[in-house]
Amino acid sequence: MVSTVTAHLFFFITVNLIPTTPIAEVPVFQGVVGGPGVPQGKSRKRVLPAPHSQKPDPLSEAFGYCNTPNRTEQAWEGHSPVDYKLLSVQVMIRHGDRYPLYSIPKTKRPAIDCTLSSKRNPSHPLMNAFISHMGQGGRGHWESPLGSVARLPNHGACEMGELTQTGIVQHLLNGQVLHQAYKHHNLLPSAWSPRQVWVETTGKSRTLQSGLALLYGFLPDFDWTKLTVRHQWSTLFCGSTCDCPARNKYLEEEQRRQYRLRVADTELERTYADMARTLGLPTRQLRAANPIDSLLCHLCHGLAFPCIPTGEGGVGGCLTTAQFSVIRRQQLGDEVDRRRAGLYHKYAILAMYPYLNRTASKMERVGKGSEAGKRPRSGGEEVFTLSSAHDVTMAPLLSALGLEEARFPRFAARVVFELWKSPPVTQGQSKKKPDKGDKSKAVGGELFIRVLYNGEDVTFHTTFCRPHDRHTGQPLCPLKNFLSFVKRDMFSVVNATSYQEACYKHPG
Ligand SMILES: *[C@@H]1O[C@H](CO)[C@@H](O)[C@H](O)[C@H]1NC(C)=O
Ligand SMILES: *[C@@H]1O[C@H](CO)[C@@H](O)[C@H](O)[C@H]1NC(C)=O
Ligand SMILES: *[C@@H]1O[C@H](CO)[C@@H](O)[C@H](O)[C@H]1NC(C)=O
Repeated sequence: MVSTVTAHLFFFITVNLIPTTPIAEVPVFQGVVGGPGVPQGKSRKRVLPAPHSQKPDPLSEAFGYCNTPNRTEQAWEGHSPVDYKLLSVQVMIRHGDRYPLYSIPKTKRPAIDCTLSSKRNPSHPLMNAFISHMGQGGRGHWESPLGSVARLPNHGACEMGELTQTGIVQHLLNGQVLHQAYKHHNLLPSAWSPRQVWVETTGKSRTLQSGLALLYGFLPDFDWTKLTVRHQWSTLFCGSTCDCPARNKYLEEEQRRQYRLRVADTELERTYADMARTLGLPTRQLRAANPIDSLLCHLCHGLAFPCIPTGEGGVGGCLTTAQFSVIRRQQLGDEVDRRRAGLYHKYAILAMYPYLNRTASKMERVGKGSEAGKRPRSGGEEVFTLSSAHDVTMAPLLSALGLEEARFPRFAARVVFELWKSPPVTQGQSKKKPDKGDKSKAVGGELFIRVLYNGEDVTFHTTFCRPHDRHTGQPLCPLKNFLSFVKRDMFSVVNATSYQEACYKHPG
C-alpha cells in the first residue's frame, strides 16, 4: 500500500468525507499520509527518509497538517530560466488554522483565544501593523455580503470555525514568501491599478481574514481604496456555472463508496464505540460530532485530548492518541480506495472546471496582452489573483490537475499558477516577416505555465505536463498544454469533450 505512493514526489493525505453540497465544508481532518518521496534539488525538511516498510506515524503527519509556523520552508515560486518574464500569478489558498467546526459532546471545548496580540505566540513582526491596517478596511470595496464580515478574528473564546492567531500568522508568512519570490520580477508596479489585483473569497470570516493576511504580507500597507474584495458564494468558486447534475451523481457514488468502506472496518467501529463509552454517548452521536476535527485542534495547539470524570453516564477517562491513530489509519485506506475507484477524480474534474476555465482564460488574456507591439491595456492586466478557499475547494483542484497523490491541503495550503514568457526571438532567427515599423523589434516569446503546491514545483506531475519531456528543448511546460487540457482534454475521463456535455449527458 505504501509502496504505491512512495514513488511520488510528495506526501499524501486523504479525503475521507465529501461535502453533500458544494457549499458545505468538510468538517473533519481528512488526512493520512503516504510514504516519503524523493525531493528534487535541495533536500527539504518535509521529505523525510523513512523505510518503505515503516508505517507513517499519524501524529507527526498530523503536525504537518497543523502547519505550525515555527520553521521556514523552501519556496520555489518565482524560479525560472534566466531572462524569462513573469506575466501573472494566480493563487488559491486554504484558510489558516481555525477552531473546530463541531464540539465533542460532554467535553470541554479547547480553550483558545481568537483575539490577536503580538504578545502571544505564534506572532509575526507585521502583527501590529496588520491589525491597525485592518482597522482602515472600511475604505475598501466589499462585494455583498462581505462588508458585514469581521476583518479580524475577535473572540476571547474562539467561536466555532473561527480563524485563530496561528491562522493569521500562517498567511502573513505566505504573503511574505510570495513577496520575496516575486519582488525581483516586477510583477506589480508600486502604483498598481485596481484591475491588476483580484481578490475573491467565500463568505466565511476565516477565508476573508486569511485572504487579507496574505495580501498584507504580499503588499504591506496596500491602498484600501484600490481594493475590491469579491464574493464567491460556492466553495467550488464556480460562479454562474455551478449547475452540473453529473457532478452531483459522481459525488453521491463516491459517498456510497466511502460509507461502505467505513462500515466494513471493524476496528474503526470498535474505536468509535470505545470513545462513545468513555463519554457516555450513543456511538452514532459521537460519530456525527466528527471527533477527529476537534482532536486535531487539540493536537495543533498543544492541548491534551479531552477527558471526562467517571459517573457522568460514561465510564470516564480520556480520548487517546491510539483512537486518533485508528481513525487516521482508516483514512489512509480510504485514500487508496478513493483513487482506485476514480469517482472522486470525475467529481473533481466537473467541480473545478469553472475555476480552471477562469484561470486559463486569464492567462490567455494576459499572454495576448503581452504580445509584441500590443498597446498595453489601460489599467493593466489582472496580474495577481487571490482566491481564498476551503479544503473542499483545494482538494478537488489538486485532483482535477492530476495531482491526486498530493498531500491533503493543510491549514494555509497554497496552490500557485505562474505564467511566464520566454525571451523574444530576434528577427534573424524568426521566420516571421520583418516588421517594417521597427527593425530591431523582437517577436515571439513563448508562454509557459508553472504550478506549485506549498512551495513545491509540481508542474511536471500534472496531467497536462506529465507527458512533456523537459529534457528535450523547453525547460518549462508550455501554456498551450494547460489550455487544451481545460478546453477539452480534461473531460476525457468522463467520456466527454466539454463541460456541457459532461454535465448533462445521460450516462448509459
Ligand atoms: C514546530 O511545531 C511542531 C508542532 O508543535 C513540532 O512538532 C516541531 O518540532 C516544531 N519545530 C520546531 C523547529 O520547533
Ligand atoms: C469559460 O471561459 C470563457 C472565457 O472566459 C467564458 O466565455 C465561458 O463562459 C466559460 N465557460 C464556463 C462554463 O464557465
Ligand atoms: C464512452 O463513449 C463511447 C462512445 O459514445 C461509448 O462507446 C463508451 O461505452 C463510453 N464509455 C463509457 C465508460 O461510458
